[in-house]
Amino acid sequence: MKPFPLPLPQGMSAETFLAEYWQKKPLLIKAAFPSFNTPLSPDEIAGMACEEGIESRLILERDGDTKWQLSHGPFDESIFSELPQSHWTLLIQEVHKYVPELAQLLESFRFIPNWRIDDIMVSYSPVDGSVGPHVDQYDVFLLQGLGRKRWQVSTAEASDGDLIPDIDLQILSYFEAEQCWELEEGDMLYLPPGVIHHGVALEESLTYSVGFRAPAEGDLITSFIDYLAEERFSPEHYQDPDLTLQQHPGEISAASLQRVREIINSIPVNDDDLACWFGQVVTESKSGERVEPNSKALSVDAFVKRFQQEDTLFRCELSRFACIEQENAMLLFVAGTLTTLSSEMKAAVYLLCDQRMHIATEWAPLLEIPDNIALLCRLYNEGHLYFDNDQG
Ligand code: SIN
Ligand code: CO
Repeated sequence: MKPFPLPLPQGMSAETFLAEYWQKKPLLIKAAFPSFNTPLSPDEIAGMACEEGIESRLILERDGDTKWQLSHGPFDESIFSELPQSHWTLLIQEVHKYVPELAQLLESFRFIPNWRIDDIMVSYSPVDGSVGPHVDQYDVFLLQGLGRKRWQVSTAEASDGDLIPDIDLQILSYFEAEQCWELEEGDMLYLPPGVIHHGVALEESLTYSVGFRAPAEGDLITSFIDYLAEERFSPEHYQDPDLTLQQHPGEISAASLQRVREIINSIPVNDDDLACWFGQVVTESKSGERVEPNSKALSVDAFVKRFQQEDTLFRCELSRFACIEQENAMLLFVAGTLTTLSSEMKAAVYLLCDQRMHIATEWAPLLEIPDNIALLCRLYNEGHLYFDNDQG
C-alpha cells in the first residue's frame, strides 16, 4: 500500500516530531494538507447538530454578566436563524464516524499508535467565534478546514484560580499569549496537553480537531481493579480467627489494618491480565455503540470471491482494532473483545490493526492461510468490516 504523506513540515521525520514536539511543545505545520477540501460544509454541520445521537455543543460569547453560554444538542433547526452574526461556535464530536473521508484522514496520523487516537471533532464559527481561552488535557492537531483562524498560545501554567467563575465551561479569565499564528485552509497546529490556547475565527471558519486520548491514571486503576474483580479475585472474605480482645471496641486496630493491607498487597498484577484488560478497554467504543451483525452473512468462499471482486474492504469506524504480540500468540482486540490467535497469523493481524482500508492484492499472500480468511470473514459477518457496496 502507498505510504501516506505525513502532515509534518517539509523535511521533518516522524522520529523528529516525536522526539522534539510530541507531548512537549506546539508546532505550526503550514500546508499540512495542501489543497485540503473540507468534506463537511457549514450546512451539513448545522444539520448534524440537530440529529439525535450525535454529540453537539454550542458556545456563545455574550456581553454582560454571563459572558459565555454553553448549550448541548440536539438543537432545533430554528436556532440557526436566531443566532447572532458573530461570536459563537458549534462543535460536533466524533465526526470521523459519520464521514468516511475524515476516517481516512486519520490514516495520516499513523506515526502515533492507533489506540491513542480519540476522535475528530469539528467546529464551525462565524467571524469572531471562539470557545474562549482554555487548556485541554490531551494532545490535539487543529486542522483549519475553511476560512482563517487566529490561534494564541501560551505554555504558562494555568491554575483553577484563573478560570472564569460560575459558568459551565473551563475558560480562563486572562492569559498572555506567547505565540500567535493565523491558520489558513490546510494549515495545522499541534498542541500538547496543558498548553493554553485561544482560537478566534477571522471569518467564517471550520476547524477539525484530531484529539488523542490519555486516560486519567485514577480511571485506569479503577478499570483494572474492576477487571480483576470480575476475572481473578477469590470469593473469600475478610477473616480474623486470630482476633484478640480490644480495649476500645470503637477502634479499628492496627491488626485489622494489617489484614486489609495483606488483601490489597495480594492484588495479582501479571503481564497477561494487564495485556488482556488494556487491549479490551482501549478498543471499547467511547459511547458504547456497537456494530450490528451483517444481515447478509457470507460463507468463507463467497467472502473471498467478493473481496477479489470489490478489491477494497474497510474497517467500520465504530469498531476499534488493536493487537498485542506475545511470545507464542497474537492477541487481537476488536471493539472490546479479545481473540487469541496463533503466531502464524501475525502478519494478517498487524495488517488488520494497522490500517483502515484493505486492498485484495495486498492480502493475496495472506489469504493462502485458511485461518486468515476465516478471521476476515468472521469480522465481516460480525459487521466490523464492510465493502463500499454494502452501504446504502
Ligand atoms: C476550535 O475548534 O476552535 C476549538 C478547538 C479547541 O480548542 O480544542
Ligand atoms: Co482546546
